[in-house]
Amino acid sequence: MPKPLPWATVWVTGASTGIGRSIALQLAEAGVRVAASARTAGKLAALGPGIHGFPLDVSDSVAVASGVAQIEMELGPIDLAILGAGTYSPVDATALDPAVFSHAMTTNYLGTVNCLAALLPRMMARGSGHVSWIASVAGYVGLPKAAAYGPTKAALINLGESLAPELRRAGIKVSVINPGFVDTPLTKQNDFPMPFLMTADDAARRTISGLSAGRFEIAYPRRFAAILKLARLLPYPLFFKLIDKAVLK
Ligand SMILES: NC(=O)c1ccc[n+]([C@@H]2O[C@H](COP(=O)([O-])OP(=O)(O)OC[C@H]3O[C@@H](n4cnc5c(N)ncnc54)[C@H](OP(=O)(O)O)[C@@H]3O)[C@@H](O)[C@H]2O)c1
Repeated sequence: MPKPLPWATVWVTGASTGIGRSIALQLAEAGVRVAASARTAGKLAALGPGIHGFPLDVSDSVAVASGVAQIEMELGPIDLAILGAGTYSPVDATALDPAVFSHAMTTNYLGTVNCLAALLPRMMARGSGHVSWIASVAGYVGLPKAAAYGPTKAALINLGESLAPELRRAGIKVSVINPGFVDTPLTKQNDFPMPFLMTADDAARRTISGLSAGRFEIAYPRRFAAILKLARLLPYPLFFKLIDKAVLK
């Protein structure tokens, strides 16, 4: 990991488990002051020294606004936000439940927007800051079982592309993090082989390294991200043939 890291205070959402938890632990280990958010207060409290729990539900815009105010009052200005709170439920294409789609969009997409809406005016007033969020390589193309999840991640990638140019002029960096399969509670429910599966610690290391380099897109593992980006360019008959063979079999 690059040292020293360029941030004094970092806000991580989705910090109670998985990738967010590993990011919070690695940042604290490197001497960064970490504000950790998720809904489960007990898990945040157990993270350890240097990590301050600010439990909140990202889908509640009022709670998010007061959480951000409290973090800045207690820990000082947030230099970097890593917005990772997210949810995933595999979808059976033959039995769609709108409630699953609504929950995914409310948590993954609107939850991120709530955090940005609370934080950006403060960064804009300071003329500096760095905001990032965890989308996914599942946002590049539509994939089987990901009908509720994939569109939220495509929306998050598009959000980054939309906001980055104007925010850069206001002195604020934007980064979109696109992981492949990472071994966390979220992917435990998958009943199919996950190619290029990596650990949460490895994902956290790559995330922190990409953020300290100030990259707009941080995608890993690189080979899997490249394959899916190429798949996006294929004509649809070829694309669906590939999905039939590689995923549905
Ligand atoms: N694992 C992968 O393969 C993978 C791949 C690409 C992208 N991602 C993305 O990476 C992020 C982290 O995923 P993960 O794999 O580490 O999953 P995870 O272990 O299930 O972590 C999800 C985190 O989000 C929090 N969370 C969920 N709903 C929330 C809400 N409404 N408000 C606040 N916090 C909430 C959870 O804590 P509480 O339940 O305590 O609230 C938990 O801390 C997600 O955005 C996910 O979509 C994961």
